[in-house]
Amino acid sequence: MTVPEWLIRNRANWDERVPIHLKSPTMYSLAPLRAGTARTEPIAAAALGPIAGQKILHLQCHFGLDSLVLAQGGAEVVGIDFSAPAIAAARNLATALGLADRARFLVSNVYDAAAVLAEPASFDRVLVSWGALCWLPDLAAWARVVAHFLHPGGWLALADAHPAAYVFDNATKTPDGMPGWYMPYLGRAALVEDRIEDYADPAAVLTNTRTHEWLHPIADILTAAIDAGLRVERFQEHDTARWPMFDCLIGDGSGNYRWPDKPWLPLSFSLRAARPA
Ligand SMILES: C[S@@+](CC[C@H](N)C(=O)[O-])C[C@H]1O[C@@H](n2cnc3c(N)ncnc32)[C@H](O)[C@@H]1O
Repeated sequence: MTVPEWLIRNRANWDERVPIHLKSPTMYSLAPLRAGTARTEPIAAAALGPIAGQKILHLQCHFGLDSLVLAQGGAEVVGIDFSAPAIAAARNLATALGLADRARFLVSNVYDAAAVLAEPASFDRVLVSWGALCWLPDLAAWARVVAHFLHPGGWLALADAHPAAYVFDNATKTPDGMPGWYMPYLGRAALVEDRIEDYADPAAVLTNTRTHEWLHPIADILTAAIDAGLRVERFQEHDTARWPMFDCLIGDGSGNYRWPDKPWLPLSFSLRAARPA
């Protein structure tokens, strides 16, 4: 089967980011994880609920930082990501931290996850968080993958940037220093980007610059979950986000970021959607 261009481009881009992120002292600091003091960011933690003893599938887990925090909190975790260097780094970290017995990592495109993980209907939670959905072209197919792995009563915990925030661009500024327009909310077409910079390291220069991204409106996210048979139990919009999506955002004291002057404009959302028991 022909590998689609979005998959080739995006994977090459993410493969290249892994060593950069592993050295990032700010966004991906490993020190709290190594010290055993790292905690799941509050918005995702609220969507997850109690995790001790829970079996959690973490989709698009990157190099496993957030997955390993869950394992330290007493969960049994499987992390999946399509980047082989990311998964190799995750496995190394799991071994170094003595967590390999409760944190497994697999290389796979999200859409092919059922082919590498033969454990349907066995997870208490599926976690998808922070900068994940914008890389996926087909949310209906994604939601079916999520539902496939949840056991009855288990739920999807989703925390990600708000699509209303994705319409703004950090690279262009209005005269008052605010972000310019980036992509239309209801556009639904792939945005093909060509950017050399990495968000976690201003000094990094990427060579695999071309990426395909999608803005999924809130209605499409909820509809995908519902059509996959999940029941929306909690949906919230937040005035903070996990990473400084725009230069003008300021720290909120909990590790997240907010507008200096626009608390009425959401930066993220969270969703809990359960497979009915
Ligand atoms: C911004 S990172 C997510 C970070 C993660 N939530 C965390 O906090 O560590 C996006 C991740 O999605 C992965 N990714 C993108 N498209 C994917 C796909 N189709 N299948 C699997 N992983 C994918 C990338 O390799 C990258 O690790």
